[in-house]
Order: sequence, then C-alpha cells, then structure tokens
Amino acid sequence: MKQKVDLNGKTILVTGSPGFIGANLVLRLLKEMNSGTVISLDNMNDYYDPKLKEYRLSLIEAAAKESPVQHIFVKGSIADKALVERVFTEHQPAVVVNLAAQAGGRYSIDHPDVYIESNLIGFYNILEACRHHPVEHLVYASSSSVYGGNKKVPFSTEDKVDNPVSLYAATKKSNELLAHSYAKLYSIPSTGLRFFTVYGPAGRPDMFYFSATERLVKGDTISIFNYGNCKRDFTYVDDIVEGVLRVMRGAPEKATGEDGLPLPPYAVYNIGGGTPENLLDYISTLQEELVRAQVLPQDYDFEAHKKLVPMQPGDVPVTYADSRALEEDYGFRPAIGIREGLRAFAEWYKQYYQ
Ligand SMILES: NC(=O)c1ccc[n+]([C@@H]2O[C@H](COP(=O)([O-])OP(=O)(O)OC[C@H]3O[C@@H](n4cnc5c(N)ncnc54)[C@H](O)[C@@H]3O)[C@@H](O)[C@H]2O)c1
Repeated sequence: MKQKVDLNGKTILVTGSPGFIGANLVLRLLKEMNSGTVISLDNMNDYYDPKLKEYRLSLIEAAAKESPVQHIFVKGSIADKALVERVFTEHQPAVVVNLAAQAGGRYSIDHPDVYIESNLIGFYNILEACRHHPVEHLVYASSSSVYGGNKKVPFSTEDKVDNPVSLYAATKKSNELLAHSYAKLYSIPSTGLRFFTVYGPAGRPDMFYFSATERLVKGDTISIFNYGNCKRDFTYVDDIVEGVLRVMRGAPEKATGEDGLPLPPYAVYNIGGGTPENLLDYISTLQEELVRAQVLPQDYDFEAHKKLVPMQPGDVPVTYADSRALEEDYGFRPAIGIREGLRAFAEWYKQYYQ
C-alpha cells in the first residue's frame, strides 16, 4: 500500500536539476503543481558541456515565470554537508528527489573519486538531512547497471544484484542499501528507481545516441561495442518523468511488523520500456531520423562511418527491465518507442546546434 502524497503547496527538492532527467522533471512539476516551491540543486559540473545545463536551466526559469509555482536554483554540491543542511533547514522540503550523481559506467574506471564523493557521500548527506528534517518521501535514482552481467531476463527487482561490474553500479546499489537502513532506523519513506538507458532531447552528450550523432556530424567514425551484439532497454525521458512523478505521489507506507517493530517504508522499482532493442536497430533508426531532421544529408554514407569493436570494461551486453511492479503499484509503464523518441531527439538537435 502507498501513502498518498499531494505535491501541491509543498516544497519539492530536486537534486541534479538542471541535469538531463532533473530538468525534465522540474519542467513537469512547474506545469502540474498549482502552488508550492520547487528547488533545483546542482553543482553544474563539467563532466559534459555545462552549456547544456545552462540551457536547460534557462528553460526552467522561463517556465517558472508562467507557473504558479516558485522555482529556486541553488548551485552547490550534495557532498557539501553544510550546504545540504542549510537547504533543508531553510526550506524544509516535503519531498526530495535525488538525481544528483556522477553518472556513467565507463568514466568510473578512470575517475573513481568523484563517484565516491557525489554518489556515496552526497547521498549519505541527503539521507542525514532527511533524518533530521523528516520528509514525506525520498525518491532517488538507482540504475539498471546494478544488474551487472545478470543472465536472467527480464531483470527483476527480486534478482540478486551483488555483482556490480563498475564502481558506478556499486555506488548505485550502495544507495539502495543505505536507503534501506535509514528507512528501517528512522522511518524515512524512500523509493529507489532503477532507470534503464534514458534518452531524449537535450540529453547527455556522453551517451551513445548523442555522442554518435556528434561524431557523424563531424564526419568521424562511430564505434559500435560488442560488435553490435548489445541490447538496451531504452527509455524515453518523458516516460521516466511520468514514472517519477507517479512514484513521488505514492510513498511506501509506514507499518508495523509481527514483531511489533516498524517495517522499513522502503521500495525499489525498475523503470524501463520492457522492449530491449538491438543496438544495430537503434542505430539504423537514429540514422533515419538524423536524415529526416536534416541533421545529416540524404546521401550520408553511414557504412563508411561505422566500426564494430569489442566490449568495453564496465559495459554489459544486455539490459531488459521487468517493470510489472511499477505498473501494478502505480498504473504506469513506459510506452514511447525508439522511433518517436529518436525523432524528438533529432529534431531538437537540429534546432539547438544548427
Ligand atoms: N540517463 C540515464 O540513462 C540514467 C540511467 C540510470 C540512472 N541514471 C541516474 O539518474 C540520475 C540523473 O541522470 P541524468 O541522465 O539526468 O544525468 P546528468 O548528468 O544530466 O544529471 C546529473 C546532474 O547532477 C549534477 N551533479 C553531479 N554531482 C553532483 C553533486 N555532487 N552535487 C550536486 N549536483 C551534482 C550534475 O551537474 C548533473 O547536472 C543520476 O543519478 C544517474 O546516475 C541515469
């Protein structure tokens, strides 16, 4: 059972906005809520071009002007405990969505420190703040990467996920463990969401569809890992936002166990399309949509710009979400297909860069 959370009139803290998913979520909140305050907190780091974050922030600020909801942007790191404490003391958020993190599996091989700082210390600071300033619901981003090389498909939250293949995955799994202990000890209602390869307009330039587009535009070659034998459960960003919003409105209930002790108000869900796409099909669709949007010319020689290469360390061959639990508990499962999603991306790319 879920405890209903009315977002209207409340203060909502979204960390990692104006990151990709965070910015889309905040835009949606500014549209949906009829009163209240939304706080975006982000350190605006340069893991990828910070101009994109500035651009997303400008969209948020423009939307806030038209919204009955107040928007506040705080620039800072969740690893800065004093700053997090200040934000919670000053604003007393009722709902917190923690999306701030160092993302990316491969990058964690050469840059481990930032994962420990943002994903572990940062998340711990958020939990501590929720402990001292009780919230109605803490929702946080986990990742499909926790499944590692899981052979059984589709991936279910019932599966054992104790064999991460990247430090990134280990930090995300750790978030779930930390959240469980805080739910048990301090009754902090929390829901972790394992996102599956999220893409869309103004997305992350480090992700394949985006970096491949940039390389093709420049006339460079794109590398297709594992010789194209990869499957990904791609999830369009609007579907993720819809899922997060529904989850925000339903927190795990506080209940008492048979032993008379409180049961942890804790849950974890997958959010993924549930239709894994072959990487080569995804690339073909991307090509078609880039031509359609006139990002690339009609006669572009794609074959001359592709290279099949082996699997990279930290990568997994397949991701495939079993999102039935999300559907049962929140009445929603992602449904937007790659044609529609990549079309929106290609059209945005044309308008933004060209
Ligand atoms: N996009 C995906 O496919 C995907 C898949 C699985 C999980 N996730 C998770 O979802 C969340 C959002 O991802 P995204 O794709 O929007 O990535 P993103 O990089 O666009 O957004 C993350 C934001 O967090 C900010 N940030 C990083 N460290 C911070 C810190 N210490 N303090 C404050 N801000 C900090 C960054 O500046 C960035 O704007 C992340 O937690 C990510 O790990 C994303």
